Amino acid sequence: MAQRPQTSATPTRAERPELFPRRLAAPARDRPIVRLEGVHKAFDGQPVLRGIDLEFRHGETTVILGRSGCGKSVLLKHILGIIRPDAGRVEAFGQDLATLGRRDLETLRMQFGMVFQGAALFDSMDVNDNVGFLLYEHSKLSDADIRGIVREKLALVGLEGIEGKMPEELSGGMRKRVALARAIAGDPHVILYDEPTTGLDPVTADTINELILRMQKQLGVTSIVVTHDMASARKIADRMVMVHQGRIIIDDRPEGVMASTDSRVRSFIYGDASLESDASSSGGSS
Ligand SMILES: Nc1ncnc2c1ncn2[C@@H]1O[C@H](COP(=O)(O)OP(=O)(O)OP(=O)(O)O)[C@@H](O)[C@H]1O
Ligand SMILES: [Mg+2]
Repeated sequence: MAQRPQTSATPTRAERPELFPRRLAAPARDRPIVRLEGVHKAFDGQPVLRGIDLEFRHGETTVILGRSGCGKSVLLKHILGIIRPDAGRVEAFGQDLATLGRRDLETLRMQFGMVFQGAALFDSMDVNDNVGFLLYEHSKLSDADIRGIVREKLALVGLEGIEGKMPEELSGGMRKRVALARAIAGDPHVILYDEPTTGLDPVTADTINELILRMQKQLGVTSIVVTHDMASARKIADRMVMVHQGRIIIDDRPEGVMASTDSRVRSFIYGDASLESDASSSGGSS
């Protein structure tokens, strides 16, 4: 007897919008889906972001580069409204985040999937509950439907049959993939990745690159990827931006960034600190 596979019976957001409330329409492709304008942020008087202007276009993969501690994670948190700017504005889906109440902000956040730095799975929950978390909390889907969606998303990231495992039983690469499955559980328009390949061997890291590309091609998502990993950046980026001392110092196609003569950019992409010290001495004399 052929059993109907659960996955094909599982409704998507597009098919059953009433089950996934509060879905916002995405802008047309190549139109801005997120904008930051003059964003400043300081912590304890120490400036981290000093006037960030950035637009993320729908359907594009933007890689954000920058040295450790330069404010990349802080920038991502502004996009989700987890951190509010001291000055400037953040807009997503045409809405100024500062004007939104709690419920509207929550709706907005549901259009995003986030793969946090270090995967950040809930240690006390099994893989099924981790991946289905948002759906259990915010959708009206039945448990059986959620299990179907979880299975489908795990299959999409190349992990099958691990629903019952606990995070501690997984390798680093598997945890990142589970985190990605969790990020796409609600069929988001935008996926934010914070260091998705850090700490993985080059081959496993490349499977994550392939997945990021697949999410863009297969699901049509906009991707914003923070990374130090230049091999990953070169493979996945439509566009690269680099943050340095709280400002964007380059915003270009990968070819343009790789060919940059800016010593701060070159020092970063070639991992050579001496290039940057040359820059500061020559910068000081000009
Ligand atoms: N909630 C916070 N409260 C106070 N300071 C913070 C907070 N979040 C970040 N910072 C500070 O802001 C700066 C930038 O941090 P952030 O985590 O964005 O760096 P990053 O570029 O993501 O670095 P890494 O590549 O190491 O992850 C750091 O000096 C950090 O200590
Ligand atoms: Mg970070």
